[in-house]
Amino acid sequence: MRSREWGKIWNKRSVILKEEDLYSIDGFNMLTCYQWNTIVRFFCNKLCINGNERFLEVGCGCGAFLSEIKKEYNDICISGFDISENIIKIANQKVDGEFFVKDASDKEWNIDKSFDIIISFSVFHYFDNLISSENSMENILDLLAEDGKIMIGDIPDKFYEEKDKEIRKQGKRNRDGKANHLYYSKDFFIDFSKKHNMKIEIIDHRYHIKDFFPNKDFRYTVILKKEHK
Ligand SMILES: C[S@@+](CC[C@H](N)C(=O)[O-])C[C@H]1O[C@@H](n2cnc3c(N)ncnc32)[C@H](O)[C@@H]1O
Repeated sequence: MRSREWGKIWNKRSVILKEEDLYSIDGFNMLTCYQWNTIVRFFCNKLCINGNERFLEVGCGCGAFLSEIKKEYNDICISGFDISENIIKIANQKVDGEFFVKDASDKEWNIDKSFDIIISFSVFHYFDNLISSENSMENILDLLAEDGKIMIGDIPDKFYEEKDKEIRKQGKRNRDGKANHLYYSKDFFIDFSKKHNMKIEIIDHRYHIKDFFPNKDFRYTVILKKEHK
């Protein structure tokens, strides 16, 4: 299964790279520290953070995204989970937050808390299938506080699937077999927002993200907010 294959890959990667910067371990080693900060700031602005929120990240890696937000907003509370045990060990050693091992494809998450902002950055393409992704979205919503926001970031666009695959085939990051990516049409998230009466903002990386960000022509990010009745 895709998710399990990628879990093994991330587990190994964290052992090899454990002395690197957090964002490098989390797969953004092609960026400089300044570039990573620029990307995270861009999404922070989109999320309109107050500075006192409780954050959860699904597939938090070793906390590169969350810890970068915490540098800007010291009073936020951060927590996250990831399928990779080794990566969570690094997060707990290096980041001031609460991190635990969990597979997002589990039917029940059994997390007994609520959060103001729940993010998942560059993770949804590792899920097994859309049923599993829908289940994750429902679990995220269950954990969301009143007035909460969800950000699912860096999603491969189904519209560009063939083109993206062609380019990945040529690159050294190409992986055969089960460890490939899951693509999402924007309708997947639009339908979810309609079903739950939420506002949705879709940020097309092609038009809004700096050129240095990998795969930017084929990815997008969605922000969902609960609508007031
Ligand atoms: C590209 S990294 C991104 C890490 C982090 N979100 C960030 O932006 O710094 C993708 C992460 O997703 C995790 N992941 C993949 N499938 C998962 C699953 N089913 N449940 C939880 N985490 C998963 C991987 O272990 C890896 O740490």
